[in-house]
Amino acid sequence: MGENVRVAVTRVIPDAGLNLLRDAAQAGEIELEIWPHELPPQNDELAGLLRGATGALTLVSDRIDGAVLDAEPQLKVVSNFAVGFDNIDVDAATAHGVMVCNTPGVLTETTADMAWALLMAAGRRIVEASDYVRAGNWKTWGPTLLLGHDIHHATLGIIGLGRIGKEVAKRARGFDMEILAYDEYQDETFAAELGVTYVSLDELLARSDFVTLHCALTPETQQLIGREELAKMKSSAVLINAARGPVVDTDALTEALRDGVIWAAGLDVTDPEPIQPDHPLVFMENVVIAPHIASASVDTRDKMAVMAATNLLQAIRGERPTHLVNPDVLG
Ligand code: DGY
Repeated sequence: MGENVRVAVTRVIPDAGLNLLRDAAQAGEIELEIWPHELPPQNDELAGLLRGATGALTLVSDRIDGAVLDAEPQLKVVSNFAVGFDNIDVDAATAHGVMVCNTPGVLTETTADMAWALLMAAGRRIVEASDYVRAGNWKTWGPTLLLGHDIHHATLGIIGLGRIGKEVAKRARGFDMEILAYDEYQDETFAAELGVTYVSLDELLARSDFVTLHCALTPETQQLIGREELAKMKSSAVLINAARGPVVDTDALTEALRDGVIWAAGLDVTDPEPIQPDHPLVFMENVVIAPHIASASVDTRDKMAVMAATNLLQAIRGERPTHLVNPDVLG
């Protein structure tokens, strides 16, 4: 059986998940191929890896589009090692009868923690301060040295009050913040419990000291934050993006940070990704950039690996995967 059921894994994920697949391979249930390199497979390499595969375990850096799906009509399941699945053309997958799975829930709090880490690092200039000390510049206590902005009692604007946005809001309570949110869908019960006020995007941008993005990347949220939106923010405001890079217009953000339109930014994601090492954002002191690591805690990545492998094996075994993004595919 294993000879016919090829499973391709596009990167080495934590053993917690890989071992489930290795066990299935050992039992002769599947034939397993794992892309062993640090860098993702390029288009032709991905095509080669997926050739003849029934299941693929993919990462956010793998583009699974109509052309990839056309080339592999035997493919049954694409299990993404991520909660986001904007790297997969889900409509095309459904049309091809391919199940798409993701890893929701397990990374919610870890990602919210990271958004907060960025918020605090950018607001209180932590990376800049650390660089200052490392460079040997710390000569004395300075009354105006590296002044940041208060986080406590400030106004936090959350764009996208879904699972992760809600965890960000819960953490803001500990800082006595006023919490504003913008979302198409409004959870009035949560808002009442947490003291969150839903407002329009314009009002959120105008009133917030910290604006944090937690929406999925969709055609509607592509470049949601551009020149016009940045101009509506306070000149003392900090923008946090732990969602997806293309939600923000990179050129507009670069100009806004350079020209003092906004004060600082904390970015876990960029557009493009990775950002070029010589991009101006990389050198700005008022920018903190992390390499898309919001879910990168040991425990969370183990849980994501187990979930992604389990989803894939369920699909291969003819069961309904627990985290199926496109249930329509089952008819
Ligand atoms: C996701 O899960 O969508 C992240 O971006 C990667 O953890």
